[in-house]
Amino acid sequence: MAKVAILGFGTVGSGVAQVLTENGAHIGEKVHSPVELKYVLDVRDFPDSPFAPLVIHDFSLIENDPEVDIVVETIGGARIAWEFTKRALTAGKSVVTSNKELVAEHGCELMELAREHGVSYLYEASVGGGIPIIRPLKQCLAANELQEITGILNGTTNYILMRMIRGGLSFDDALKEAQAKGYAEADPTADVEGHDACRKICILASLAFGRHIYPAQVPTEGISAVTLADVAYAGSRGCKLKLLGRAIREEDGRVTAFVAPHLVGEEDPLSGVDDVFNAIKVKGNAIGDVMFYGRGAGKLPTASAVVADVMEAVRTKGAPKYLDWGPGAPDAVRGPDSLESPWYVRLSAPSARAAAIMAGEPLAREDAPEGETAFLTRPMTRAALDAALAGEKPLSVFRVLEG
Ligand code: HSE
Repeated sequence: MAKVAILGFGTVGSGVAQVLTENGAHIGEKVHSPVELKYVLDVRDFPDSPFAPLVIHDFSLIENDPEVDIVVETIGGARIAWEFTKRALTAGKSVVTSNKELVAEHGCELMELAREHGVSYLYEASVGGGIPIIRPLKQCLAANELQEITGILNGTTNYILMRMIRGGLSFDDALKEAQAKGYAEADPTADVEGHDACRKICILASLAFGRHIYPAQVPTEGISAVTLADVAYAGSRGCKLKLLGRAIREEDGRVTAFVAPHLVGEEDPLSGVDDVFNAIKVKGNAIGDVMFYGRGAGKLPTASAVVADVMEAVRTKGAPKYLDWGPGAPDAVRGPDSLESPWYVRLSAPSARAAAIMAGEPLAREDAPEGETAFLTRPMTRAALDAALAGEKPLSVFRVLEG
């Protein structure tokens, strides 16, 4: 018999309780042991929930209960969740999490702590919700030297951009709609400004390239500067604006990592990823491109990944398999400054100098104000673009994803 405690009874935590209970019989059969939920820790009470009798408020009850084998951490954030995770691992309990902030900030040390105590620290649900990506990246693609990861990693921003593209909604209206549908995080800043996608690309890049990559090392730009004008110009070339997290292994072993809106051409499968779906494209030197696609957020898709990790922890008890990486270094990561790409530029009225970099690729949209100009450049670095635009105050500048 394996006993489980859930920390945090929000959307994901309650989904985990539901899946563990409703699918309990076949979960037990698959791992050859019944898996039972013993505690739900939260600061709140849930008198109307079927799980009300399991609700407690004191973590030390879990920490000191030798019957609890597995702690599911769905609190979120990197403060209380960090403390409880360290205490649970130190008490010899495996921890399963959906907490991307904690894994991105402290994953390396928590995995070391898990090793010290011979237990698991598993985090499949931290990236891509229900999409299997962590274990495939580490195990199924193990034969490859991984070269590049490009992902639509945040469902809320993908939804907002889709509503701007397809529905003609302004950014503000699309955000309000995403909030009303319950997609955006409690504080939408983390979604909209790209921090959520940043944490996820940090986890993927750390796993793929073997060294901890911290969010503070990854330049991050969100989607709040994207306008309907940009959407229209991009559309005139069959491109869609998408928020991408990218990590590229360079020849010298360093990693270029960043998060930014990109124009994505219709020939790229990422351009067809709509709604709150996520997709992660991985390039390996043997497999070429492979793409993982599915529901990147939501109660039951995320719970699906968490409960699968609970099952893995039960199956591998006593001989855990570590999906870990080495420590980071200040010079291991660099921003995208040296990465050449074509650029999309929108200007209110270009000078002759700026006109020289239009490279014959002007864009058009209906009802553009007098003088407004948008164009795609040839591939160049951001520094070269800035030099060519010296003296201009562009209304918008976004990278174009090259195939
Ligand atoms: N707010 C996140 C998203 C939830 O929209 O993708 C899943 O991490």
